[in-house]
Amino acid sequence: MTATTPSRSRTAWRILLTLAVLAVIAALGALPTLIGPPSENGLLDLAKFTGRFHPVVLHLPIGILVWVLVHECLVAFGLRQGSSRTAMGLAAGTAVIASLLGILLYYGIPEYDAKLAQRHMDRGIAFTCLALATWLVKIWVDAAAGRGAFIYRGLLLGSAGVMTAASHDGASLTHGSTYLTEYAPAPVRKLLGLPEKSSTAPESGDSAMQPVYQAVIAPILEAKCYQCHNADRQRGKYRMDQYDLLLAGGNDGAAIVPGDAAASNLVKRIELPEEDELHMPPEGKKDLAAHEVTLIKWWIGQGASADALLDSLTADDEVLSALAMVGDAALGAAKEKPEKPASQAMSNEIKSAVERLRGEFPAALNYESQSSSGLTFTAAGLRAAFGDADLAKLEPVLPAMVSMDLSATSLTDDGAKLLAKATSLKSLRLSETALTEASLDTLARLTGLESLNLYGTQIGSPAVLKLTSLQQLKKLYLWRTQVDAAGVLQLQEKLPGCEIIMGL
Ligand code: HEC
Repeated sequence: MTATTPSRSRTAWRILLTLAVLAVIAALGALPTLIGPPSENGLLDLAKFTGRFHPVVLHLPIGILVWVLVHECLVAFGLRQGSSRTAMGLAAGTAVIASLLGILLYYGIPEYDAKLAQRHMDRGIAFTCLALATWLVKIWVDAAAGRGAFIYRGLLLGSAGVMTAASHDGASLTHGSTYLTEYAPAPVRKLLGLPEKSSTAPESGDSAMQPVYQAVIAPILEAKCYQCHNADRQRGKYRMDQYDLLLAGGNDGAAIVPGDAAASNLVKRIELPEEDELHMPPEGKKDLAAHEVTLIKWWIGQGASADALLDSLTADDEVLSALAMVGDAALGAAKEKPEKPASQAMSNEIKSAVERLRGEFPAALNYESQSSSGLTFTAAGLRAAFGDADLAKLEPVLPAMVSMDLSATSLTDDGAKLLAKATSLKSLRLSETALTEASLDTLARLTGLESLNLYGTQIGSPAVLKLTSLQQLKKLYLWRTQVDAAGVLQLQEKLPGCEIIMGL
């Protein structure tokens, strides 16, 4: 008789506990329905503050549940003994706390993507209820000396599954839905059925033909701002990843006043001192670089257009150098890399200039071939009649020039400075011109040159070493110049792949 009393009272205690836990499950399940959707203004600050601890606490049930799973596996293989009942109770208990904090967070911060947040909350509560039930079952299984353990293990696996789904949604909320897969290698993306990774700056096409917004502004904002202002996460109720919404702003109203950068809330925010609470991006996030701020202000000042092209906007030197810093990827207009085929550099602007100039220099200006948009120019029919002013007329088409014969023209050092724009040049003849060492700096920048003819010019020995930057050079004609044998030797050493021709 004496033995049954404690066991009976233990059973009574278990029944009580079961009823209590079932009540908690029912209450938790009903809570969201009882409170309704989040209100516009959110909760009291204290509630918001408390809610912020959700992301901290939620790692407890996750960690403990993983421990329980490992423990049960070891038990199943006879590698370990003892009940995971207490640990499961802890997992369930901390899950209840995490859920309550999560509910506070959800109602306190209405700017999360409503649908995703709702699903995360539903799954999180489902996990918590399941974890509580799993714990209850374990209590009864232990009381029955292990009978029905399979129910416990089944529920345990179920809890782990729901927990995984809930935490994935949670991670998407905090980091954006592409957080995990953003940098996934191509085969993994394929396996998951994701589209191939697209870089923000389109790889092909003439980027000078792209709207400034798309080519320059959006990539900056994407790198520094989208993470908190996107479809899933709209801090300040502000979404920046779409043009209309970018202008519209959030809680504070319009973020951008087209044509007036200083009046634009967005500009005010990025120009606040970094330690100001309202500074964007917030503390701890990579700040905008000075040239990025310059570009954003310039674009807004120029009307914040969605589709204005670079050519249609005016830019001062500061903006131009800022543009150069965002790289050819976004710009492509002024600076064409020499190794890029000239065909890519060919814009409509150059094409129409070619048509015009072919009238002026009949037979002198030509396309390199039918399939190429590279240009060739020969002054062979003009000779001394061709001078600095004529080269200036060719300026708009110089970037597309691959071959130029300017020998025996009246070109001077002054005029030849323009040749710096002919960055696609592979072959250049300047023989029998009045050019001197002063032009070597210009020539040294034409790093795509494969053939350079300076025959019969005044260029002399130490200065000619400036040409060592022309590492693509295969032929260099220096016959009847002032370059001496020692100079040739030195040059030859620096340009091993180049044949230096000193005579016929
Ligand atoms: C780490 C998250 C985060 C990043 C990154 C971030 N913001 Fe914010 N932003 C917020 C939060 C939170 C708010 C709302 C609180 C506030 O108004 O300061 C906000 C509000 C704003 C607002 C006010 C919106 C309104 O109408 O209330 C602007 C404008 C803004 N951000 C611009 C930017 C810009 C521009 C960048 C990129 C340079 C940026 N943000 C990057 C978190 C971020």
